[in-house]
Amino acid sequence: MNGVFSLWPSQASAHSVQVDTLLGAFFVLIILLSAPVFVLIVVFAVRYRRGRAADRRHPVNQKVGLEISWTLIPFLLVLGFYVWATSLYFDLYRPPADALEIDAVGKQWMWKFQHPGGQREIDELHVPVGQPVRLAMASQDVIHSLYIPALRIKQDVLPGRYTTIWFTADRPGEFRLHCAEFCGTDHSIMGGRFIAMEPADYTAWLERADVDLSLAAQGEILFRTHGCSGCHGPAATVHAPPLEDLYGKPVPLQDGSVVTADEQYIRDSILLPQAQIAAGYPPIMPTFQNVLGEEEVLKLVAYIKSRSGTRWSDRQ
Ligand code: CUA
Repeated sequence: MNGVFSLWPSQASAHSVQVDTLLGAFFVLIILLSAPVFVLIVVFAVRYRRGRAADRRHPVNQKVGLEISWTLIPFLLVLGFYVWATSLYFDLYRPPADALEIDAVGKQWMWKFQHPGGQREIDELHVPVGQPVRLAMASQDVIHSLYIPALRIKQDVLPGRYTTIWFTADRPGEFRLHCAEFCGTDHSIMGGRFIAMEPADYTAWLERADVDLSLAAQGEILFRTHGCSGCHGPAATVHAPPLEDLYGKPVPLQDGSVVTADEQYIRDSILLPQAQIAAGYPPIMPTFQNVLGEEEVLKLVAYIKSRSGTRWSDRQ
């Protein structure tokens, strides 16, 4: 579609082609459904205009078959689109098992990304072509929204909550990424470049990129300095839940329910430890609500994730 209509954003994934096909087909459907109405308005306006010798007796003319068909056929067509669009939407929230996990943090007014090897970048996101990528996203301050038009994906990024989105770029190139939620003075310039590269180029880029300690490694330091290891470490004398292999696993709670240890659960357990108490453990964990900043919590969560062999996608 690109080129035919230059305002249309470029396509950089199979998903973007599917979204455009859906949008195009829906546009055609709406034209087909509304055109007869407008055509008849014009036809009747001409045929029955004042002074014209038309037949105005208006006899009762019941054609049940016709009435049912013009109700049922559009209904089924629109319902078909509902199923089509919904399945596309669900696809977007089910990352495949082999997805590369990249952390994304939004803050006023920049996007920070960190690759599994610790490579960091700001306002730029480099990814390999042909490889599913899952973004685990959080905000350090207000609500932002990561928007990559070429992939046809947009997802809110919230403080205090993790959101995810995934995609597979299918052609190399440079595209735009934006913030799509008004987030303050510099919202309009909160954006940058999305760069899809051939896998070999991506590997070469990873080698050149600035490597910081990975989020998980920074989390490990915090884990010790804030005394977490005193209770959750191997030498602890206090009876606290082990964190080894926790991520992605079901956790039975005191109240009999079971939750999945996802990013949100781990985060809440650090900040609101009394809210969900693991079955069989005393509620002795203090809250770190006013002790840790948002970014520190992100790092701790990344560290606890790294201590588990389970990837997010294995839960599916
Ligand atoms: Cu961040 Cu708008």
